Amino acid sequence: MTKQKDITVLAIETSCDETSVAIVKNGREVLSNIIASQIDVHKKFGGVVPEVASRKHIENINIIIQDALDEANMTFDNIDVVGITYGPGLVGALLVGISSAKAIAFGRNLPLVGVNHIEGHIYANFIEDKSLEPPFITLIVSGGHTHLVYVEDYGKYDILGKTRDDAAGEAFDKVARSLNLGYPGGPLIDKLAKKGDKEAIDFPRAYLEEGSFDFSFSGLKSAVLNYLNNSKQKGQEIIVEDVAASFQQSVIEVLVNKTIKAAKSKGAKTIAIAGGVAANEGLRSLMKEKCNQEGFDFKYPAKILCTDNAAMIASVAYYNYLRGERANLELNGVPNLKLG
Ligand code: KG4
Ligand code: ZN
Repeated sequence: MTKQKDITVLAIETSCDETSVAIVKNGREVLSNIIASQIDVHKKFGGVVPEVASRKHIENINIIIQDALDEANMTFDNIDVVGITYGPGLVGALLVGISSAKAIAFGRNLPLVGVNHIEGHIYANFIEDKSLEPPFITLIVSGGHTHLVYVEDYGKYDILGKTRDDAAGEAFDKVARSLNLGYPGGPLIDKLAKKGDKEAIDFPRAYLEEGSFDFSFSGLKSAVLNYLNNSKQKGQEIIVEDVAASFQQSVIEVLVNKTIKAAKSKGAKTIAIAGGVAANEGLRSLMKEKCNQEGFDFKYPAKILCTDNAAMIASVAYYNYLRGERANLELNGVPNLKLG
């Protein structure tokens, strides 16, 4: 049998506050994955400022593209396909990446493939585990999204549930802010939680209606704020580590229990997690423990592939390309692009 020709994708990701460019061979082999984080710039504002994000992407994008080529030891001559995140995300930020991707595709006469950012998070698992194949259940938990999805096949998703209010990462960031921890809050809470007692404070678990795979985190966020205000009013000491550990436990218990239930309902054998919050140590260890108990195979990407990066976007672009999907130069940013 003749070997299929290798396909090398250059992908660009600028949907939020990371300028990232990656070069990936055949959807799973990362040759370079350069990530320029803007966290230090946005930190002083306590969150991402869209206008600042766009400007930083403009400053960085050409340098990061060249870095990605250099690290892969390639030039544009070696690239077969250009992949680009076109949503969801901040429209001004998306447009910087889209314009660059179009310019490369037009200038080099290469196919352009649009990618959904949420789908990208799922595909981080294909890069991590080269043998992973659909079907499986995936929990996507990031700063902007919380989705429980049955991945039937590449490009074929059954959305079982999503958040009705805040995303999981958003809840981490807001609670961290109320504890004056800084931005982004997820990693800081994760670190403090390790030193705290997860049973110290009985925060609510929002399971919603029987059988629902949706999530809600705004009630929990209010409960934490109320706890902090009441404690201050009564002059009681606030043990930040205990608040972090108890809050985190409330979030991850619901995430894990609903994911296991969803896997059972679909008869899936494998569970994968994705998105920035999938980097959370508490979530990784509780999910691992429950998957072991219940007999599911558990997959999780390296932390660098959990948070925003272009390698995961290149992976989606590769599979979309194989299915014949092409974008043209009219491609626009879609801030509220949906999955599925
Ligand atoms: O996937 P991502 O980089 O960007 C979005 O697409 O939203 O996710 C960023 C989110 C932030 O809310 C951040 O606080 C959270 O992921 N995050 C974490 C951890 N690392 C990042 N949350 C909990 N524990 C972590 N270790
Ligand atoms: Zn993301």
